[in-house]
Amino acid sequence: MKGIVFTEFLEMVEQKFGYELVDKMLTENDLESKGAYTSIGTYNYSEMVQLLVDLSARTEIDIPTLLKEYGKYFFDILYNSYPQFFNTVPNSFVFLESIENHIHIEVKKIYPKAELPTFETKMIDQDTLEMIYHSERKMADFAEGLILRTLNHFQDPCTINRENIKEDGSIVKFLLVRNKK
Ligand code: HEM
Repeated sequence: MKGIVFTEFLEMVEQKFGYELVDKMLTENDLESKGAYTSIGTYNYSEMVQLLVDLSARTEIDIPTLLKEYGKYFFDILYNSYPQFFNTVPNSFVFLESIENHIHIEVKKIYPKAELPTFETKMIDQDTLEMIYHSERKMADFAEGLILRTLNHFQDPCTINRENIKEDGSIVKFLLVRNKK
């Protein structure tokens, strides 16, 4: 997993809960990297799980909620870093469809070690987009946060229906239906 996912996660924790908590998370867990993350480094996904479990225990906020919040936060980081991916598409559905065929392909070119999910997207009709998330890292909550913030950014209010296709959360279907105006 790319370092930026760790550095921005810790930045969010610091903003929401203060540096003292970040310091405890890094020093009181037996982290393989010893918590010395750089945005361009690559670290084991299991360390992210360790940090999430620890933060959840300290804050009494469940992990799905933490991941969803982090997805929303990460959207803003992506938007500020790569505005060209957002400013060249007409609406949220076109943007979301471009993740698999364009954005994550570019990410993989720059960071060959990036571990990315796969999205199967299908326009069911003009106002309905189906997105099927596939990833062994089972971060559909993070994906949901990113999707929510995307809809908000493009001012495209939708109702999201979510369904586990595989019980362990490695395949998850999102059905986005535009709210009637
Ligand atoms: C400009 C837009 C985007 C860029 C540059 C980008 C880039 C990245 C990067 C660098 C990672 C980390 C890979 C790793 O840890 O090795 C990642 C992971 C991920 N991205 Fe994107 N991303 C973008 C938009 C999105 C959007 C809108 C979604 C949501 C639908 C999304 C879904 C995910 C998920 C769920 C992961 C976590 C890894 C996993 O589930 O296996 N990305 N992305």
